[in-house]
Amino acid sequence: MTVISVTGGARLEGLVRVTGAKNSVLKLMAATILAPGTSTITNVPAILDVTIMAELMRRLGCDISHDEPKQSLTISVPEKLEHRADYDLVRQMRASICVLGPLVTRFGAADVALPGGDAIGSRGLDYHIEGLKKLGATVKSEHGYLVAHAENGLHGATIHLDFPSVGATETILMAAVLASGVTVIDNAAREPEIVDICNMLSEMGAQISGAGTSVIEITGVKKLNPVTHQTIGDRIVAGTWAAAAVMTKGDITVTGIDAKYLEMPLSKIRDAGATVDIEKDGFRVTMNSRPKSVDIVTLPYPGFPTDLQPQFIAMNAIAEGAAMVTENLFEARFRFVQELARLGASVKTDGHHALIRGVEKLSSAPVEATDIRAGAGLVLAGLVADGNTLVHGVEHIDRGYTDFVDQLVSLGADAKRID
Ligand code: UD1
Repeated sequence: MTVISVTGGARLEGLVRVTGAKNSVLKLMAATILAPGTSTITNVPAILDVTIMAELMRRLGCDISHDEPKQSLTISVPEKLEHRADYDLVRQMRASICVLGPLVTRFGAADVALPGGDAIGSRGLDYHIEGLKKLGATVKSEHGYLVAHAENGLHGATIHLDFPSVGATETILMAAVLASGVTVIDNAAREPEIVDICNMLSEMGAQISGAGTSVIEITGVKKLNPVTHQTIGDRIVAGTWAAAAVMTKGDITVTGIDAKYLEMPLSKIRDAGATVDIEKDGFRVTMNSRPKSVDIVTLPYPGFPTDLQPQFIAMNAIAEGAAMVTENLFEARFRFVQELARLGASVKTDGHHALIRGVEKLSSAPVEATDIRAGAGLVLAGLVADGNTLVHGVEHIDRGYTDFVDQLVSLGADAKRID
Protein backbone atom coordinates (compact mmCIF):
# COMPACT_ATOMS: atom_id res chain seq x y z
CA MET A 1 0.00 0.00 0.00
CA THR A 2 1.31 3.45 -0.91
CA VAL A 3 0.41 6.67 0.85
CA ILE A 4 1.30 10.27 0.09
CA SER A 5 2.63 12.07 3.13
CA VAL A 6 2.35 15.88 3.10
CA THR A 7 3.52 18.25 5.79
CA GLY A 8 1.73 21.56 5.49
CA GLY A 9 3.15 25.04 5.59
CA ALA A 10 5.36 25.48 2.52
CA ARG A 11 4.80 28.21 -0.05
CA LEU A 12 4.88 26.60 -3.50
CA GLU A 13 7.04 28.46 -5.98
CA GLY A 14 8.47 27.60 -9.38
CA LEU A 15 7.57 26.11 -12.73
CA VAL A 16 5.67 22.96 -13.59
CA ARG A 17 4.95 21.51 -16.99
CA VAL A 18 1.74 19.58 -17.53
CA THR A 19 1.74 16.58 -19.84
CA GLY A 20 -0.98 15.49 -22.24
CA ALA A 21 -4.58 15.30 -21.05
CA LYS A 22 -5.68 11.94 -19.63
CA ASN A 23 -9.19 12.58 -20.91
CA SER A 24 -7.91 13.12 -24.41
CA VAL A 25 -5.14 10.56 -24.83
CA LEU A 26 -7.33 7.54 -23.99
CA LYS A 27 -9.77 8.49 -26.75
CA LEU A 28 -6.97 9.25 -29.21
CA MET A 29 -5.63 5.76 -28.55
CA ALA A 30 -9.07 4.26 -29.27
CA ALA A 31 -9.35 6.35 -32.45
CA THR A 32 -6.24 4.70 -33.91
CA ILE A 33 -8.32 1.49 -34.20
CA LEU A 34 -10.18 3.21 -37.05
CA ALA A 35 -7.19 3.00 -39.40
CA PRO A 36 -4.99 -0.02 -40.16
CA GLY A 37 -1.29 0.83 -39.98
CA THR A 38 0.97 2.55 -37.50
CA SER A 39 -0.10 5.72 -35.69
CA THR A 40 1.97 7.71 -33.21
CA ILE A 41 0.57 9.77 -30.34
CA THR A 42 2.88 12.25 -28.63
CA ASN A 43 2.70 14.19 -25.35
CA VAL A 44 1.41 11.01 -23.68
CA PRO A 45 1.30 11.10 -19.86
CA ALA A 46 2.88 8.20 -17.94
CA ILE A 47 -0.29 7.38 -16.02
CA LEU A 48 -1.90 4.11 -15.08
CA ASP A 49 -4.92 4.66 -17.33
CA VAL A 50 -2.68 4.76 -20.41
CA THR A 51 -1.18 1.43 -19.32
CA ILE A 52 -4.66 -0.08 -18.89
CA MET A 53 -5.83 1.21 -22.27
CA ALA A 54 -2.66 -0.12 -23.93
CA GLU A 55 -3.26 -3.55 -22.40
CA LEU A 56 -6.87 -3.52 -23.58
CA MET A 57 -5.79 -2.66 -27.12
CA ARG A 58 -3.01 -5.28 -27.08
CA ARG A 59 -5.62 -7.90 -26.25
CA LEU A 60 -7.61 -6.70 -29.26
CA GLY A 61 -4.52 -7.42 -31.37
CA CYS A 62 -2.74 -4.05 -31.59
CA ASP A 63 1.00 -3.81 -31.17
CA ILE A 64 1.84 -0.94 -28.82
CA SER A 65 5.09 0.51 -27.60
CA HIS A 66 5.17 3.31 -25.05
CA ASP A 67 8.38 5.33 -24.96
CA GLU A 68 7.91 6.99 -21.56
CA PRO A 69 10.97 9.29 -21.67
CA LYS A 70 9.87 10.59 -25.08
CA GLN A 71 6.19 10.57 -23.99
CA SER A 72 5.18 8.88 -27.19
CA LEU A 73 3.05 5.89 -28.01
CA THR A 74 3.32 3.93 -31.24
CA ILE A 75 0.28 1.85 -32.08
CA SER A 76 0.21 -0.66 -34.94
CA VAL A 77 -3.30 -1.67 -35.87
CA PRO A 78 -3.66 -4.80 -38.04
CA GLU A 79 -6.31 -5.37 -40.72
CA LYS A 80 -8.24 -7.68 -38.39
CA LEU A 81 -8.81 -7.24 -34.64
CA GLU A 82 -10.58 -9.07 -31.85
CA HIS A 83 -13.64 -7.17 -30.70
CA ARG A 84 -13.95 -8.02 -27.02
CA ALA A 85 -12.95 -5.70 -24.15
CA ASP A 86 -12.76 -7.81 -21.01
CA TYR A 87 -14.30 -7.00 -17.65
CA ASP A 88 -11.03 -7.25 -15.70
CA LEU A 89 -9.76 -4.17 -17.59
CA VAL A 90 -13.00 -2.25 -18.09
CA ARG A 91 -13.80 -2.40 -14.38
CA GLN A 92 -10.51 -0.66 -13.67
CA MET A 93 -11.20 2.13 -16.11
CA ARG A 94 -14.59 3.26 -17.29
CA ALA A 95 -13.07 5.11 -20.26
CA SER A 96 -12.45 1.65 -21.84
CA ILE A 97 -15.93 2.10 -23.26
CA CYS A 98 -14.40 4.40 -25.90
CA VAL A 99 -13.35 1.37 -27.99
CA LEU A 100 -17.03 0.58 -28.59
CA GLY A 101 -17.58 3.10 -31.41
CA PRO A 102 -14.37 2.35 -33.36
CA LEU A 103 -14.82 -1.45 -33.11
CA VAL A 104 -18.43 -1.53 -34.22
CA THR A 105 -17.93 0.85 -37.13
CA ARG A 106 -14.76 -0.81 -38.44
CA PHE A 107 -15.50 -4.50 -37.77
CA GLY A 108 -19.29 -4.56 -37.41
CA ALA A 109 -19.09 -6.06 -33.93
CA ALA A 110 -18.04 -5.12 -30.40
CA ASP A 111 -18.40 -6.81 -27.01
CA VAL A 112 -17.44 -4.38 -24.27
CA ALA A 113 -17.89 -5.20 -20.59
CA LEU A 114 -20.22 -2.89 -18.68
CA PRO A 115 -18.12 -0.73 -16.36
CA GLY A 116 -20.41 -1.16 -13.36
CA GLY A 117 -20.28 0.95 -10.19
CA ASP A 118 -18.20 4.07 -10.05
CA ALA A 119 -16.95 6.02 -7.06
CA ILE A 120 -18.33 9.28 -8.42
CA GLY A 121 -21.86 8.18 -9.17
CA SER A 122 -23.98 6.09 -11.45
CA ARG A 123 -22.80 7.11 -14.88
CA GLY A 124 -25.15 5.87 -17.57
CA LEU A 125 -24.33 4.64 -21.06
CA ASP A 126 -27.79 5.18 -22.48
CA TYR A 127 -26.74 8.05 -24.77
CA HIS A 128 -23.90 5.94 -26.18
CA ILE A 129 -26.30 3.05 -26.84
CA GLU A 130 -29.10 5.18 -28.31
CA GLY A 131 -26.58 6.96 -30.54
CA LEU A 132 -25.20 3.72 -31.95
CA LYS A 133 -28.72 2.41 -32.51
CA LYS A 134 -29.61 5.54 -34.49
CA LEU A 135 -26.56 4.82 -36.66
CA GLY A 136 -27.99 1.38 -37.39
CA ALA A 137 -26.28 -0.89 -34.83
CA THR A 138 -28.11 -3.39 -32.67
CA VAL A 139 -26.97 -3.08 -29.07
CA LYS A 140 -27.89 -5.49 -26.30
CA SER A 141 -26.73 -6.09 -22.78
CA GLU A 142 -25.78 -9.76 -22.33
CA HIS A 143 -24.03 -11.39 -19.37
CA GLY A 144 -22.50 -8.10 -18.23
CA TYR A 145 -21.36 -7.08 -21.70
CA LEU A 146 -22.65 -4.55 -24.20
CA VAL A 147 -22.89 -6.50 -27.42
CA ALA A 148 -23.11 -4.35 -30.55
CA HIS A 149 -23.55 -5.52 -34.13
CA ALA A 150 -23.59 -3.74 -37.48
CA GLU A 151 -22.61 -6.39 -40.01
CA ASN A 152 -23.80 -4.26 -42.90
CA GLY A 153 -22.09 -1.13 -41.66
CA LEU A 154 -23.48 2.00 -40.04
CA HIS A 155 -25.38 4.84 -41.69
CA GLY A 156 -25.55 8.54 -40.89
CA ALA A 157 -28.32 9.95 -38.67
CA THR A 158 -29.27 13.06 -36.73
CA ILE A 159 -28.76 12.45 -33.03
CA HIS A 160 -29.99 14.83 -30.32
CA LEU A 161 -28.23 14.30 -26.99
CA ASP A 162 -30.33 15.06 -23.88
CA PHE A 163 -27.12 16.20 -22.20
CA PRO A 164 -23.80 17.18 -23.84
CA SER A 165 -22.06 14.01 -22.66
CA VAL A 166 -18.34 13.89 -23.45
CA GLY A 167 -18.21 10.10 -23.72
CA ALA A 168 -21.36 9.77 -25.83
CA THR A 169 -20.22 12.53 -28.21
CA GLU A 170 -16.94 10.62 -28.68
CA THR A 171 -18.63 7.24 -29.21
CA ILE A 172 -20.97 8.64 -31.84
CA LEU A 173 -18.20 10.65 -33.49
CA MET A 174 -15.85 7.69 -33.79
CA ALA A 175 -18.64 5.48 -35.13
CA ALA A 176 -19.91 8.09 -37.60
CA VAL A 177 -16.57 8.80 -39.31
CA LEU A 178 -16.76 5.44 -41.14
CA ALA A 179 -20.58 5.32 -41.52
CA SER A 180 -22.21 5.95 -44.87
CA GLY A 181 -23.76 9.42 -45.21
CA VAL A 182 -24.06 12.40 -42.91
CA THR A 183 -24.36 12.33 -39.11
CA VAL A 184 -25.32 15.37 -37.06
CA ILE A 185 -24.72 15.38 -33.30
CA ASP A 186 -26.94 18.03 -31.77
CA ASN A 187 -26.16 19.26 -28.23
CA ALA A 188 -22.70 17.76 -28.60
CA ALA A 189 -20.07 18.22 -25.88
CA ARG A 190 -17.75 21.20 -26.55
CA GLU A 191 -14.79 20.20 -24.36
CA PRO A 192 -11.26 20.93 -25.67
CA GLU A 193 -10.70 17.15 -25.65
CA ILE A 194 -13.53 16.79 -28.20
CA VAL A 195 -11.79 19.34 -30.41
CA ASP A 196 -8.55 17.39 -30.00
CA ILE A 197 -10.05 14.10 -31.15
CA CYS A 198 -11.88 15.83 -34.03
CA ASN A 199 -8.56 17.31 -35.13
CA MET A 200 -6.91 13.91 -35.03
CA LEU A 201 -9.77 12.25 -36.94
CA SER A 202 -9.62 15.02 -39.56
CA GLU A 203 -5.87 14.44 -39.92
CA MET A 204 -6.73 10.76 -40.50
CA GLY A 205 -9.01 11.78 -43.36
CA ALA A 206 -12.38 12.17 -41.63
CA GLN A 207 -14.78 14.92 -42.69
CA ILE A 208 -15.94 16.78 -39.60
CA SER A 209 -17.23 20.30 -39.09
CA GLY A 210 -18.43 22.11 -35.97
CA ALA A 211 -15.93 20.66 -33.46
CA GLY A 212 -16.05 22.81 -30.32
CA THR A 213 -19.65 23.87 -31.00
CA SER A 214 -22.93 22.21 -30.00
CA VAL A 215 -23.57 20.87 -33.49
CA ILE A 216 -21.00 18.53 -35.02
CA GLU A 217 -21.52 17.30 -38.57
CA ILE A 218 -19.69 14.26 -39.86
CA THR A 219 -19.69 12.98 -43.43
CA GLY A 220 -18.63 9.36 -43.39
CA VAL A 221 -15.65 8.21 -45.45
CA LYS A 222 -14.73 4.68 -46.55
CA LYS A 223 -11.28 4.53 -45.04
CA LEU A 224 -9.04 6.45 -42.62
CA ASN A 225 -5.24 6.64 -42.53
CA PRO A 226 -2.81 6.38 -39.63
CA VAL A 227 -1.37 9.64 -38.26
CA THR A 228 1.03 11.25 -35.84
CA HIS A 229 -0.83 13.47 -33.40
CA GLN A 230 0.12 15.48 -30.32
CA THR A 231 -2.22 15.28 -27.30
CA ILE A 232 -3.40 18.61 -25.89
CA GLY A 233 -2.22 19.61 -22.41
CA ASP A 234 -4.14 18.51 -19.33
CA ARG A 235 -6.30 21.46 -18.26
CA ILE A 236 -7.39 19.69 -15.07
CA VAL A 237 -3.83 19.12 -13.89
CA ALA A 238 -3.05 22.75 -14.81
CA GLY A 239 -6.07 23.94 -12.80
CA THR A 240 -4.93 21.84 -9.85
CA TRP A 241 -1.60 23.71 -9.82
CA ALA A 242 -3.45 27.03 -10.01
CA ALA A 243 -5.43 26.11 -6.88
CA ALA A 244 -2.20 24.98 -5.17
CA ALA A 245 -0.64 28.40 -5.83
CA VAL A 246 -3.63 30.18 -4.31
CA MET A 247 -3.85 27.93 -1.27
CA THR A 248 -0.15 28.08 -0.37
CA LYS A 249 0.11 31.84 -1.14
CA GLY A 250 2.55 30.75 -3.78
CA ASP A 251 3.85 31.67 -7.20
CA ILE A 252 3.53 28.92 -9.80
CA THR A 253 4.10 29.09 -13.54
CA VAL A 254 2.32 26.32 -15.42
CA THR A 255 3.44 25.45 -18.96
CA GLY A 256 2.26 22.95 -21.59
CA ILE A 257 -1.30 24.28 -21.59
CA ASP A 258 -3.35 26.74 -23.60
CA ALA A 259 -4.81 29.04 -20.90
CA LYS A 260 -7.96 29.62 -22.98
CA TYR A 261 -9.12 26.13 -21.95
CA LEU A 262 -9.19 27.33 -18.34
CA GLU A 263 -11.04 30.63 -18.68
CA MET A 264 -13.65 29.85 -16.05
CA PRO A 265 -11.32 28.30 -13.41
CA LEU A 266 -8.76 31.10 -13.88
CA SER A 267 -11.45 33.74 -13.48
CA LYS A 268 -12.35 32.07 -10.14
CA ILE A 269 -8.65 32.11 -9.21
CA ARG A 270 -8.66 35.88 -9.84
CA ASP A 271 -11.87 36.27 -7.79
CA ALA A 272 -10.08 34.50 -4.94
CA GLY A 273 -7.56 37.36 -4.97
CA ALA A 274 -4.68 35.95 -7.03
CA THR A 275 -2.89 37.55 -9.95
CA VAL A 276 -3.06 35.50 -13.13
CA ASP A 277 -0.71 36.28 -16.01
CA ILE A 278 -1.46 34.53 -19.27
CA GLU A 279 1.69 33.42 -21.07
CA LYS A 280 2.38 31.92 -24.48
CA ASP A 281 2.50 28.30 -23.38
CA GLY A 282 0.62 28.55 -20.09
CA PHE A 283 0.00 30.95 -17.21
CA ARG A 284 1.40 32.16 -13.89
CA VAL A 285 -0.57 32.43 -10.63
CA THR A 286 0.77 34.62 -7.82
CA MET A 287 -0.91 34.96 -4.44
CA ASN A 288 0.09 36.94 -1.38
CA SER A 289 -2.90 36.80 0.94
CA ARG A 290 -5.48 34.41 2.31
CA PRO A 291 -7.89 33.57 -0.54
CA LYS A 292 -11.45 34.88 -0.63
CA SER A 293 -14.27 32.34 -0.98
CA VAL A 294 -15.59 31.76 -4.48
CA ASP A 295 -18.94 30.23 -5.47
CA ILE A 296 -18.77 27.49 -8.08
CA VAL A 297 -21.32 25.79 -10.31
CA THR A 298 -20.05 22.81 -12.32
CA LEU A 299 -21.32 22.59 -15.89
CA PRO A 300 -20.25 21.11 -19.22
CA TYR A 301 -17.51 23.12 -20.97
CA PRO A 302 -17.14 26.12 -21.15
CA GLY A 303 -18.65 25.99 -17.64
CA PHE A 304 -16.60 25.16 -14.55
CA PRO A 305 -15.26 21.57 -14.86
CA THR A 306 -16.52 19.01 -12.37
CA ASP A 307 -13.00 17.54 -12.40
CA LEU A 308 -11.71 20.67 -10.62
CA GLN A 309 -14.53 20.80 -8.09
CA PRO A 310 -12.76 18.94 -5.23
CA GLN A 311 -9.58 21.04 -5.61
CA PHE A 312 -11.63 24.26 -5.47
CA ILE A 313 -13.61 23.01 -2.47
CA ALA A 314 -10.24 22.44 -0.76
CA MET A 315 -9.32 26.03 -1.70
CA ASN A 316 -12.60 27.34 -0.25
CA ALA A 317 -12.01 25.32 2.92
CA ILE A 318 -9.26 27.75 3.98
CA ALA A 319 -10.69 30.89 2.36
CA GLU A 320 -12.12 33.96 3.99
CA GLY A 321 -15.93 33.79 4.00
CA ALA A 322 -18.43 31.18 2.84
CA ALA A 323 -18.90 29.64 -0.60
CA MET A 324 -21.67 27.66 -2.27
CA VAL A 325 -20.53 24.92 -4.62
CA THR A 326 -23.13 23.30 -6.86
CA GLU A 327 -22.33 19.98 -8.55
CA ASN A 328 -24.41 19.34 -11.65
CA LEU A 329 -22.66 16.34 -13.22
CA PHE A 330 -21.83 13.63 -10.72
CA GLU A 331 -24.02 13.33 -7.65
CA ALA A 332 -21.57 11.28 -5.58
CA ARG A 333 -18.65 13.64 -5.98
CA PHE A 334 -19.33 15.20 -2.57
CA ARG A 335 -18.26 11.96 -0.86
CA PHE A 336 -14.89 13.62 -0.77
CA VAL A 337 -16.04 16.33 1.68
CA GLN A 338 -16.34 13.79 4.48
CA GLU A 339 -12.60 13.25 4.16
CA LEU A 340 -11.97 16.98 3.99
CA ALA A 341 -13.99 17.38 7.19
CA ARG A 342 -11.50 15.02 8.87
CA LEU A 343 -8.92 17.74 8.20
CA GLY A 344 -11.08 20.29 10.00
CA ALA A 345 -12.93 21.78 7.01
CA SER A 346 -16.43 23.11 7.63
CA VAL A 347 -18.58 21.76 4.79
CA LYS A 348 -22.30 21.10 4.79
CA THR A 349 -23.89 19.34 1.83
CA ASP A 350 -27.53 19.28 0.82
CA GLY A 351 -28.27 17.36 -2.36
CA HIS A 352 -26.01 18.75 -5.04
CA HIS A 353 -25.04 21.86 -3.06
CA ALA A 354 -22.17 22.22 -0.63
CA LEU A 355 -21.74 25.17 1.71
CA ILE A 356 -18.13 25.70 2.73
CA ARG A 357 -17.27 28.05 5.57
CA GLY A 358 -13.58 28.83 5.37
CA VAL A 359 -11.36 28.16 8.40
CA GLU A 360 -7.93 29.73 8.98
CA LYS A 361 -6.04 26.46 9.04
CA LEU A 362 -6.70 22.79 8.51
CA SER A 363 -5.46 20.13 10.89
CA SER A 364 -3.62 17.06 9.61
CA ALA A 365 -5.14 13.56 9.71
CA PRO A 366 -5.07 10.33 7.72
CA VAL A 367 -7.55 10.57 4.82
CA GLU A 368 -8.68 8.38 1.94
CA ALA A 369 -8.92 9.41 -1.73
CA THR A 370 -12.08 8.03 -3.33
CA ASP A 371 -11.30 9.12 -6.90
CA ILE A 372 -8.58 10.89 -8.87
CA ARG A 373 -9.71 14.46 -8.31
CA ALA A 374 -10.74 13.89 -4.69
CA GLY A 375 -7.20 12.61 -4.16
CA ALA A 376 -5.73 15.79 -5.64
CA GLY A 377 -8.04 17.89 -3.47
CA LEU A 378 -6.90 16.07 -0.33
CA VAL A 379 -3.21 16.49 -1.17
CA LEU A 380 -3.82 20.24 -1.69
CA ALA A 381 -5.58 20.38 1.67
CA GLY A 382 -2.59 18.61 3.26
CA LEU A 383 -0.35 21.43 1.94
CA VAL A 384 -2.17 23.90 4.20
CA ALA A 385 -2.83 21.63 7.19
CA ASP A 386 -0.99 21.88 10.46
CA GLY A 387 1.30 18.82 10.72
CA ASN A 388 1.56 15.68 8.65
CA THR A 389 -1.34 14.42 6.51
CA LEU A 390 -1.32 10.90 5.09
CA VAL A 391 -3.40 10.48 1.95
CA HIS A 392 -4.43 6.87 1.27
CA GLY A 393 -5.88 5.59 -2.01
CA VAL A 394 -2.87 6.85 -3.99
CA GLU A 395 -3.71 4.47 -6.83
CA HIS A 396 -6.55 6.87 -7.71
CA ILE A 397 -4.18 9.86 -7.88
CA ASP A 398 -1.74 7.86 -10.03
CA ARG A 399 -4.51 7.44 -12.58
CA GLY A 400 -4.44 11.12 -13.44
CA TYR A 401 -1.30 12.84 -12.20
CA THR A 402 2.19 12.09 -13.51
CA ASP A 403 4.93 12.43 -10.89
CA PHE A 404 2.62 14.44 -8.64
CA VAL A 405 4.82 14.14 -5.56
CA ASP A 406 8.05 14.89 -7.44
CA GLN A 407 6.47 18.00 -8.90
CA LEU A 408 5.19 19.09 -5.48
CA VAL A 409 8.68 18.66 -4.05
CA SER A 410 10.21 20.60 -6.95
CA LEU A 411 7.91 23.49 -6.02
CA GLY A 412 9.07 23.38 -2.40
CA ALA A 413 6.44 21.17 -0.74
CA ASP A 414 7.36 18.80 2.05
CA ALA A 415 5.84 15.66 0.51
CA LYS A 416 6.81 12.06 -0.15
CA ARG A 417 5.43 8.71 -1.21
CA ILE A 418 5.66 5.99 1.37
CA ASP A 419 5.32 2.38 0.24
C1 UD1 B 1 -15.70 12.56 -18.99
C2 UD1 B 1 -14.38 12.61 -18.26
C3 UD1 B 1 -14.56 12.93 -16.78
C4 UD1 B 1 -15.36 14.22 -16.65
C5 UD1 B 1 -16.64 14.16 -17.45
C6 UD1 B 1 -17.41 15.45 -17.46
C7 UD1 B 1 -13.05 10.99 -19.46
C8 UD1 B 1 -12.32 9.70 -19.42
N1 UD1 B 1 -13.73 11.31 -18.37
O1 UD1 B 1 -16.46 11.51 -18.41
O2 UD1 B 1 -13.29 13.06 -16.17
O3 UD1 B 1 -15.67 14.41 -15.29
O4 UD1 B 1 -16.36 13.82 -18.83
O5 UD1 B 1 -16.63 16.48 -17.93
O6 UD1 B 1 -12.98 11.72 -20.44
N2 UD1 B 1 -24.63 10.40 -18.84
C9 UD1 B 1 -25.78 9.66 -18.96
N3 UD1 B 1 -25.84 8.74 -19.98
C10 UD1 B 1 -24.83 8.54 -20.86
C11 UD1 B 1 -23.65 9.30 -20.71
C12 UD1 B 1 -23.58 10.24 -19.69
O7 UD1 B 1 -26.72 9.81 -18.19
O8 UD1 B 1 -24.96 7.69 -21.75
C13 UD1 B 1 -24.55 11.41 -17.76
C14 UD1 B 1 -23.53 11.05 -16.68
O9 UD1 B 1 -24.09 10.24 -15.69
C15 UD1 B 1 -23.15 12.43 -16.15
C16 UD1 B 1 -23.25 13.32 -17.39
O10 UD1 B 1 -24.06 12.62 -18.32
O11 UD1 B 1 -24.08 12.87 -15.20
C17 UD1 B 1 -21.93 13.68 -18.02
O12 UD1 B 1 -21.19 12.53 -18.30
P1 UD1 B 1 -20.13 12.49 -19.49
O13 UD1 B 1 -19.93 13.87 -20.04
O14 UD1 B 1 -20.54 11.42 -20.42
O15 UD1 B 1 -18.82 12.08 -18.73
P2 UD1 B 1 -17.76 10.97 -19.14
O16 UD1 B 1 -17.54 10.99 -20.62
O17 UD1 B 1 -18.12 9.68 -18.49
